[in-house]
Amino acid sequence: MRLTYLEASVILIRHRGWIPWFGAAFEFGKAPLDFIARARAKHGPIFTVFAAGKRLTFVTLHEDFRTFFMSKDVDFEQAVQEPVHNTASISKESFYRFHPACNSLIKGRLTPGNISLLSNHLCEEFNHHLELLGSKGSDGLSDLVRSVMYPAVMSNLLGKCNSPGCPATVQEFKEKFRIYDEGFEYGSQLPDIFLGEWAKSKQWLLSLLDNMVINAEGNTSTEAGTKTLLQHLVTTITDKFLPNYGLLMLWASLANAIPITFWALAFILSDPSAYRTAMEQITAVFKNQGTERTAVTTAELQQLSYVKWCILEAIRLRAPGAITRRVVRPLRLQNYIIPPGDLLMVSPYWAHRNPKYFPDPEEFKPERWEKADLVKNVFLEGFVAFGGGRNQCPGRWYALMEMNMFVSLILYKYEFTLLDPLPNPSSLHLVGTQQPEGPCRVQYKHR
Ligand code: HEM
Repeated sequence: MRLTYLEASVILIRHRGWIPWFGAAFEFGKAPLDFIARARAKHGPIFTVFAAGKRLTFVTLHEDFRTFFMSKDVDFEQAVQEPVHNTASISKESFYRFHPACNSLIKGRLTPGNISLLSNHLCEEFNHHLELLGSKGSDGLSDLVRSVMYPAVMSNLLGKCNSPGCPATVQEFKEKFRIYDEGFEYGSQLPDIFLGEWAKSKQWLLSLLDNMVINAEGNTSTEAGTKTLLQHLVTTITDKFLPNYGLLMLWASLANAIPITFWALAFILSDPSAYRTAMEQITAVFKNQGTERTAVTTAELQQLSYVKWCILEAIRLRAPGAITRRVVRPLRLQNYIIPPGDLLMVSPYWAHRNPKYFPDPEEFKPERWEKADLVKNVFLEGFVAFGGGRNQCPGRWYALMEMNMFVSLILYKYEFTLLDPLPNPSSLHLVGTQQPEGPCRVQYKHR
């Protein structure tokens, strides 16, 4: 087989002549997810996009994903260092020094065994914040999910004293975090001076984290029965960027799971058969309990398998737009050699639309997860929403537990009517799970 440098055989994107990289950046920036699909259809399974001065080489064949995740010729830290600097103001030196320990810490604290230590406390928090919704009301479903999950998850992972307490502080946090999260992708590419409102929200969140760190340092008690992730972080990161790592951890723990919780609920509520099946299971599992202070044990979570399939199906359909590695030595893929320096990209969103692994890929079909050995924590082949290899998402078991618990509890306690049709996903972002493009309002009533 003749090997060429990708440079030599790279697909240049044609549009009335050769477009400069700025043109590609513009097209790419407008709707990057659609751009990837068009580029793949036109140029084949491996292609390079020149955008904002960077070479992004997309890998779209399932058989190449193993190399992407496992090869020693690619590196996670070198791919994300600059975005980490831009989004959380962590210096390069600090990042290379502390990232490995930070990653091991989160991985170790959130193993399937350890998350059962967190689930009782999380359940109490969900019950408390769900009751605050009152006996009935109407709201955007995304907002509703945020107003319960933000404070409950923050209390669980960062400590109760670090969770926004009253509705006004929840609202303020929601607003700042929304701006930070929405602008995260642009913020990862550009210096703060180009991003006024976003940079202000980042500073606001960093001050908040400063205070949270002080609380965590001063508070050695274990109110949830175990030390919080933040209390562990305080003993791991010993430089001045500790609050900045806290901000990244907070973002990672909320930014993907909350949109997926929204989608899981929206898919269930807009599909009568899925709704009926989910409710049959939920009512059978909680049959001896009232709708206030409903306890959810690990055993009950295991029985809520259909709800878990719905969540995995929502993750499959609304998976992150892209994950990335830096090529550090010439990397052979198909009949190309990808040069060092390229950012290698895999799109879980498009990978999950491969009919070979997911027949009828656009359909919400929770039953397809019956084939996965979830008891042994094995997903379906072709599912890459949590990435892979050494840097696979360390929060995946926590994410599945919290979403399974939340979706089951909210559906058990409240009856919903959808006021809008199911929105499409927005095609604006590559980073993280997908946001809805339009509104999705609901009416709700306590059962
Ligand atoms: C549906 C929910 C979630 C999805 C789809 C998701 C997905 C991902 C993906 C794709 C990555 C990058 C993996 C790679 O490049 O191979 C990642 C990294 C990460 N995730 Fe998640 N995640 C979710 C929830 C969570 C939660 C709840 C937490 C924390 C409690 C968390 C913590 C992290 C952290 C800390 C990293 C960075 C790991 C590192 O620096 O090596 N994630 N996640």
